[in-house]
Amino acid sequence: MYRKAINKTSRSHDYLLLDLIFAGDHESVKPGNVDAFKRLARIAKSYPDRCSLFAKQTCCAMIELKSISKTYKGYGGNYPALSHINLTIEEGDYLIVMGKSGSGKSTLLNILSGIDRPDEGSLLFRGSPLEQLSESSISKWRGRHVGIVFQFYQLLPSLTAQDNLLFAMELVGVIPKQERKHRVRDLLTRVGLEGKFEKFPHQLSGGERQRVAIARALANDPPLLIADEPTGNLDSITSQAIHQIFEQLNKSGKTIVQVTHENVTDRPFNKLYHMKDGVLSTPN
Ligand SMILES: Nc1ncnc2c1ncn2[C@@H]1O[C@H](COP(=O)(O)OP(=O)(O)OP(=O)(O)O)[C@@H](O)[C@H]1O
Ligand SMILES: [Mg+2]
Repeated sequence: MYRKAINKTSRSHDYLLLDLIFAGDHESVKPGNVDAFKRLARIAKSYPDRCSLFAKQTCCAMIELKSISKTYKGYGGNYPALSHINLTIEEGDYLIVMGKSGSGKSTLLNILSGIDRPDEGSLLFRGSPLEQLSESSISKWRGRHVGIVFQFYQLLPSLTAQDNLLFAMELVGVIPKQERKHRVRDLLTRVGLEGKFEKFPHQLSGGERQRVAIARALANDPPLLIADEPTGNLDSITSQAIHQIFEQLNKSGKTIVQVTHENVTDRPFNKLYHMKDGVLSTPN
């Protein structure tokens, strides 16, 4: 069926493949459905010149960090924050990095999201090196592909919950204007904020603000969600609710990378790493 569809059309190959993924047979090409995904990947591989985007999505990891190092330079001397980090993040992963304060977790996330650049090493996104992009191209890439959730929410205080999301959509511009309001309401409802669309951040609890921040991170439908201590400022019950939202998002196909100083054993992650003094390791 895929082979037939690939042969049948004369439209741009990337659009065809996106059609296959998002409309043609959406359910069966989700990363969770490994057999169908591999079958489609095999077909895609036999048309390398015609299906570059899909081939990249299926043949390469979502993100590969190759020997990434980062040293902060200052008056007090140089501080090596990350040292030769190698990490592979596959589509659909829920990856957690645990580490004490100062171990380099936020530095790692800044590099994953292109906010900061490494001194050494390479970051490949679906097979393409990020370091070759200009600052403005990295910003565009981030807007489309990465949603970020911070410990202290970082909502715009003068905008309502709804307007915080609309603003994020306006900045990136990938969601068509006529769909935005509906999408905002849908996202805020999904994170349990029905009836609070018009509230300003100061009128919301910490947990509710974090829900707005998660909805905002999803505003432009990025495949990757990055969370820096998203429950570090919340009580345990609220934290649990936020983790359930992450779990659902991961089940719906989002790739999640979360860093925390908490000892996590009961989360639905599939990859767990430790970070110590800028060095990443897997637990014994
Ligand atoms: N801009 C900077 N200039 C100099 N040193 C920095 C800078 N940012 C971070 N560092 C140092 O690099 C190390 C790693 O910092 P990072 O923020 O990545 O740690 P972290 O694991 O996120 O800590 P926390 O759990 O407290 O957020 C720390 O020792 C920090 O002091
Ligand atoms: Mg940090």
